[in-house]
Amino acid sequence: MAYLHWSSDLDTGIDVIDKQHRRIVDYLNELNTANDAGDNKVTSHVLNELVDYTLTHFAFEEELQERAAYPFLKAHKRVHEIFTKRVAEFLKRAEAGENVTPELLSMLKIWLVNHIKGDDADYAECVKQNLGLESTMDRTGGWLGSALKRLFG
Ligand SMILES: [Fe+2]
Repeated sequence: MAYLHWSSDLDTGIDVIDKQHRRIVDYLNELNTANDAGDNKVTSHVLNELVDYTLTHFAFEEELQERAAYPFLKAHKRVHEIFTKRVAEFLKRAEAGENVTPELLSMLKIWLVNHIKGDDADYAECVKQNLGLESTMDRTGGWLGSALKRLFG
C-alpha cells in the first residue's frame, strides 16, 4: 500500500512542478516499500536517490522563482536550506548504521504536504501570473527546457 497518496489538493497547477512533486511522492512510497521489505541495500539506494532528486527539485524551484521575480524567493530558499540540513542529519545517522527510515518518512510526509500546500502554492500563483507555464506554452524564452536539461540531465 502506498505510504502517501497523491491528491488533487497537492496540485500547484504548474505542470512541470506537479510532475516533480509526484516523482518525490513516488520515491517516498518506494522508500517505504523497501523499508517494509527489510532490504537495507535497496532502502539506502532509494534514500540517496530521493534526497538527490529533492535537492535538484529545490534548485529548479528556486531558479523558476527567480525567473518569475517572486518577492519571497529568499524566504523560500531559507526554508529549503533548513530542510536540507535536517535531512543531512538523518543521512549522518543512517551512515552510522541507524535505521532512520521510519522517522524520516513520517517527517518527510508531513513536511512535504505542508510545504506543497503552503509555500509552493504561494509561489505558484506568482509564477502563473508572470510566466504562465500552466500548460505546455512556455513563456520563459527557452529557459524551461534548458534548465530541466541542465539540472535533471
Ligand atoms: Fe519549495
